[in-house]
Amino acid sequence: MSQRPPYLVFGAPALGDEELAEVIDCVRSGWLGTGPRVKRFEADFAAYKGVPAELAAGVNSCTAALHVSMVAAGLEPGAEVITTPMTFCATVSAILHAGLTPVLADVDPVTQCIDPRAIEAAITPRTQAIIPVHFAGRPCDMDAILAIAARHHLVVIEDCAHAIETEYRGRKAGTFGDFGCFS
Ligand SMILES: Cc1ncc(COP(=O)(O)O)c(C=O)c1O
Repeated sequence: MSQRPPYLVFGAPALGDEELAEVIDCVRSGWLGTGPRVKRFEADFAAYKGVPAELAAGVNSCTAALHVSMVAAGLEPGAEVITTPMTFCATVSAILHAGLTPVLADVDPVTQCIDPRAIEAAITPRTQAIIPVHFAGRPCDMDAILAIAARHHLVVIEDCAHAIETEYRGRKAGTFGDFGCFS
């Protein structure tokens, strides 16, 4: 890993010689799709998150992970999915792409994460899932969100695009809901 200057640029990852060497090795290996590196990445990522290796699936982006999670959850066409307005457009576009209906519930003004009371107020008989976004690395109130989900039988899909290293009560983001999606 290379060192960067103290000013942290949003959206500018630290890419150094190790990453470059890995890309070159990958191209030279001839495996550009699903191959041994994807398997290794899934196993390493699952180990980092402290979950069994078979629970990690490599896809191309958080957008794809969100979409595939909603499809895998078997939600009914047109069902309502509650999420936050403080997010990147991919959270809502993945809901639309899965043939579902986004419903926005407001955020806590301090944490900028979805407010569990707003989730509760947005629930209707057509609600089938919640997508909390751990905004800018801050964890959502997962205790409250999981309690609401259990009470109303809702699927929870964590949008962890900002939260690869985020923890909540000592546990890693992405391991609370039925699915955790990463960039
Ligand atoms: C909150 C949030 N969710 C989802 C995404 C989509 O991630 P990706 O670019 O990996 O598809 C982003 C990207 O910025 C994001 O900020």
